[in-house]
Amino acid sequence: YSLLKHNTFGIDAHCRMFVEYNSVEELCELLCDTNLPKPLFHIGEGSNLLFTKDFDGTIFHSCILGKEIVEDAVDSVLLKVGAGEDWDNFVDWTLNHGFYGLENLSLIPGEVGASAVQNIGAYGAEAEQYIEKVAAVCLATGESRIFLKEECDYAYRSSIFKHALRGQYIVTHVYYRLQKTFQINLTYAALCRELESRGLAEANVTACEVRNIIVEVRRNKLPDPKEIGSAGSFFMNPIVSEKMFQELLSIYPEIPYYKMPTGVKIPAGWLIQQVGWKGKTLGRAGVYPKQALVLVNLGGASGEDIMSLSNKIIHDVQQQFEIELKPEVNFI
Ligand code: EPU
Repeated sequence: YSLLKHNTFGIDAHCRMFVEYNSVEELCELLCDTNLPKPLFHIGEGSNLLFTKDFDGTIFHSCILGKEIVEDAVDSVLLKVGAGEDWDNFVDWTLNHGFYGLENLSLIPGEVGASAVQNIGAYGAEAEQYIEKVAAVCLATGESRIFLKEECDYAYRSSIFKHALRGQYIVTHVYYRLQKTFQINLTYAALCRELESRGLAEANVTACEVRNIIVEVRRNKLPDPKEIGSAGSFFMNPIVSEKMFQELLSIYPEIPYYKMPTGVKIPAGWLIQQVGWKGKTLGRAGVYPKQALVLVNLGGASGEDIMSLSNKIIHDVQQQFEIELKPEVNFI
């Protein structure tokens, strides 16, 4: 079975079996089927993974839909959302219903289930700020359980589902707590600048306007996966010590950075541009000319082509900066 339609990188890898399900019950039945070729692996829209070779087992994909208000409080709502819902359709739906919080996460590719696994983030917001709990099914036992947000070990692009419990649970629903009053999130400096450049005053901006601006900014900077194969940011932004940052700053006074509780975050895109890879290609893989953090499939690339480019970039950044870049994309 070709996975070409199931990964935004557009890699023509194959798996032995591909299964989809519409409900928790159907998922449990599938998990009881001992004839499914192993190993089992679950994907979402495939917008954050790289198939490095064929997968000799069964790939699962959720078609669990539904957006349900399970608690309607004075100031907020609790929504139960099916893992198979398209993320950006969901964000659009929340804003149309007057439920706020997710506007800065507009136009992120992928599905709702993955938002809770990957802790998606952009423009100063992260999914975990709005997740209250996550419903998941255990692959080994077929049992459902709820993970409270505190149990999910959320961190930058990371959760318990990606690390300690990797491959052991399938997320079926995510519970999002959203606010009924809009409060703009301007923690990301670039977003403030976007508002200013449009002559918009913070106090008058609506959530839908924020969404529209972010959609426009993303469209200008990131490739449309329908046209150019990619998986968004390929690397995580590394966090370095304050001491190392001071050394960097003395050599590169223009270095962009974000101070974090654990150190200083340096944009990987800037590092990649400094070592000269922006806009360059290696075989059928390339570095996107408008945003160096994005690796692209120039047409017919294999997972190995992308990996070779990634390894070269990691090597060069290590040589020049003594910083180790770590892929954000999951290698399968
Ligand atoms: N920069 C360069 N050269 C480049 C790209 C960026 O010098 O080629 C510099 C920019 O000038 C800017 C800084 O790096 O000063 C940050 O760039 P940008 O605002 O584009 O954000 P990013 O750090 O590259 C992160 C997320 C994106 C998210 C944006 C906006 C990660 C790994 N990436 O990118 O997330 O959309 O911030 O919030 O954290 C994704 O995860 O797939 C993703 C797209």
